[in-house]
Amino acid sequence: MPIRLGVPKEIEPGERRVALVPSVAERFHRLGVEVLLETGAGTGSYHPDSSYEQVTVVDSASELYRQADLILKIQPPTEAEIEQIRAGATIAGMMQPYRYPERVRLLRDRKILAFGMELVPRISRAQSMDVLSSQASIAGYKAVLMAANRYGGFFPMLTTAAGTIRPAKVLVIGAGVAGLQAIATAKRLGAMVEGYDVRGATREQVESLGAKFVDTGVSADGAGGYARELTEEEKQQQQSVLEKHIAAADVVVTTAAIPGRPSPKIISKTIVEEMKPGAVIIDLAAEGGGNCEVTEAGKQVNHQDVIVYGPLNVPSELPVHASEMYARNLLNFLTPMIEDGEFKPDWDDEVIADSTLTRDGEIKHAATREQVEGSAS
Ligand code: NAI
Repeated sequence: MPIRLGVPKEIEPGERRVALVPSVAERFHRLGVEVLLETGAGTGSYHPDSSYEQVTVVDSASELYRQADLILKIQPPTEAEIEQIRAGATIAGMMQPYRYPERVRLLRDRKILAFGMELVPRISRAQSMDVLSSQASIAGYKAVLMAANRYGGFFPMLTTAAGTIRPAKVLVIGAGVAGLQAIATAKRLGAMVEGYDVRGATREQVESLGAKFVDTGVSADGAGGYARELTEEEKQQQQSVLEKHIAAADVVVTTAAIPGRPSPKIISKTIVEEMKPGAVIIDLAAEGGGNCEVTEAGKQVNHQDVIVYGPLNVPSELPVHASEMYARNLLNFLTPMIEDGEFKPDWDDEVIADSTLTRDGEIKHAATREQVEGSAS
């Protein structure tokens, strides 16, 4: 029997993305899969029902959940959504298991096969499935536009009849996927850009984009290419060098995160008070508590004439391409599991196995199991 893939409308307030766009729906159809779409699921990303070909549009989420074997989501399913998924069915989406342990329990107890797209291992073969990267690069791009909109000056150097305007100084802290895209975007807008990261390996990447690397003399390369937490002494050294660069910047974009832990505080209130009036901070780490002490998640704060904005769910503000990239990530992840329209995951494949959050009534992801059940075994 060909499987029925179901795409509900996202219910999280402010979420404009959809997990399947028309061009990718067509690709699933060619794999022999039947596609069900809840009416209006693509509206927020400008994909009306009529733009999807070869899909069956259903009137309600309950009808969709009743029929679908494989659900595609962006936001983690709520408990009410999980209750509607058929026992034994499959869901693929971002699950945020650290944040929602009670939902993981429910997925386990309802014997749902749940893939956490953020758990896809970051190995070369899985790059095309990496939703963290696709969505982070959107956030990095958009953060710079948010900064440019709030900054009271130009980004590029301009030579005009009224004299020469100096370019804006932009500092990007955290040079992962989002940070590198922020650097590239600020460069394209003509700013003078500096980049900083605790991982020394990023120096070359920052410089290859034409930006200057801020060298604090502290390197904190951790396991798997991620940053480790810094010692107190390292934090102080990092702080004193960075402080000078922050105070001189017109715009600071922060993207520093440590997976599963609160965001490191890099910009203290005191440093904000040393910044120029009119300077702008965009804190992309707001979701995890922020990289700046002044940040209030989801809000714009004016602290002594420095504008500090900590936007949430930034990829949703570029819903067209965020949805398209996410949907392609899902297609690349699921295609190897679909054979003649049937769902046949190869559990020996490390990408599939590592991405599995719950299966057959068990929590398969070790770190989540430890958190939820108190045992890593
Ligand atoms: P992230 O969102 O977890 O963190 C953002 C950046 O903040 C990282 O570069 C991190 O080093 C930096 N950071 C953490 N603490 C900091 C501090 N106190 N001060 C300054 N910077 C700090 O990272 P993201 O963007 O998700 O990816 C990071 C790593 O994963 C990179 O090494 C990247 O190359 C690797 N990666 C590998 C992929 C693959 O091989 N498939 C795909 C995507 C990323």
